[in-house]
Amino acid sequence: MKHKTIIEPFKIKMVETIPLTDEKEREEFLKTAHYNTFLLKSDQVIIDFLTDSGTSAMSTDQWAGIMRGDESYAGARSWDRMREAIHDLTGFQYIIPTHQGRAAESILFTLLGGNDKIFISNTHFDTTRANIEYSGAKAIDCIIKEGMIPSSLHPFKGNMDIEELEININKYGEKNIGAVILTVTNNSGGGQPVSMQNAIEVREVCKKYHIPYLIDSCRIAENSYFICKREKEYKNHDYRSIAQKMFSLADGTIMSAKKDGLVNMGGFMALKDQEMSDACTNLLIIREGFATYGGLSGRDMEAIAQGLVEVFDKDYLHYRIQSTTYLGENILAMGIPIVQPVGGHAVYIDAKSFYDHIPVDHFPGQSLVCDLYLQGGIRTVEIGSVMFGKYDDNGILIPAPMELVRLAIPRRVYTQSHIDYVIETFEFILKGKEKAKGFKITYEPKFLRHFTAHFEPVS
Ligand code: F0G
Repeated sequence: MKHKTIIEPFKIKMVETIPLTDEKEREEFLKTAHYNTFLLKSDQVIIDFLTDSGTSAMSTDQWAGIMRGDESYAGARSWDRMREAIHDLTGFQYIIPTHQGRAAESILFTLLGGNDKIFISNTHFDTTRANIEYSGAKAIDCIIKEGMIPSSLHPFKGNMDIEELEININKYGEKNIGAVILTVTNNSGGGQPVSMQNAIEVREVCKKYHIPYLIDSCRIAENSYFICKREKEYKNHDYRSIAQKMFSLADGTIMSAKKDGLVNMGGFMALKDQEMSDACTNLLIIREGFATYGGLSGRDMEAIAQGLVEVFDKDYLHYRIQSTTYLGENILAMGIPIVQPVGGHAVYIDAKSFYDHIPVDHFPGQSLVCDLYLQGGIRTVEIGSVMFGKYDDNGILIPAPMELVRLAIPRRVYTQSHIDYVIETFEFILKGKEKAKGFKITYEPKFLRHFTAHFEPVS
């Protein structure tokens, strides 16, 4: 007998109250937050899909680790545990702890970056791009063309375009390429997976031109699930060994443990090269902390060591991906256009096509973000022209390539009935679709405007 119902492969031991609000209250909250969901308080939110980063629920074993944490400044037992867990998983010799992913990026790109350097990725995540550009270097995205088409059903839409990669290497000169970074899964491209075949082809190119090859591995367990299910050579491999194989192709990795590390804070980099690692360690000590804790407490390191094991549990990963897929497929069946196939950590809605009566300079994505909050208290994020739009010399908006809304699902936090509640909210939104109005920006800072911008509904 095979059940249809997806059950959470865990029991709930500790609960956190969700204050339930009504639409009238939410209208006030949203107005006070200037229609920017980043400016809401968490108590005003029913289902928080703003991010899957640092929002995981930890297990009993992780909490036990928290109590065991060794808070010694140097040589802590907890560091040994974290280092061994990372070494076992990645195979890399040199491991550097940081307080989160972008701290590892900042250290690495300070050393590898600088003027005239080029970094090529399938799609750079925004903090990765920001750290590269801050060093004076240039960040180029090289995604396969299917990765830019929301309705394309390609099984590995996170794949790097190998031909484009070589064209760029030849265009800029191999000596000027700081590194190639493969992001698995490809967060900014819809949480889409990267195939092992593609990871191998990237390695071949990097080897041919002697370019460092890095993996941004913050969602590598989820990526491994997709490889197992969609790439037939890996059908009988376990998820952990798939991840290990992928790591074995690269020269190093950076990981925000706030995703597939199943923790609330933490990150690291792991490298093959001792010289590079020594240089990173020097910067680490200046910026983050001593080499055996980086920016972390002993208890954080215990939780990471345990999280990196638990995340590959086959029942957990199955529930995780099936639950995201269930949400995506149910709203798709209702007629909501989403990025297909559904990715690992999030469902992305194509707001431009859903609210096709709202012009891009009135931000259809922001409109849907506000409607989801009003109708269901669901907090999401716009990944479109609010986040990535620029202005030309005449102040006219240069829109982002896509107007998406991301529903990022925290790990082990929400149950199947929460997901059903979200699906039900979409039914209300669909009914009132024509009434949705756009927004205009009334205040914006110079950088990363989506975090603090203010909006007003277009009358
Ligand atoms: N790389 C990727 C692919 C990410 O998705 C993130 C963070 C980072 C690096 C940076 O890690 O937050 O620990 O400094 N993504 C979060 C998100 C913020 O909501 O997608 P961090």
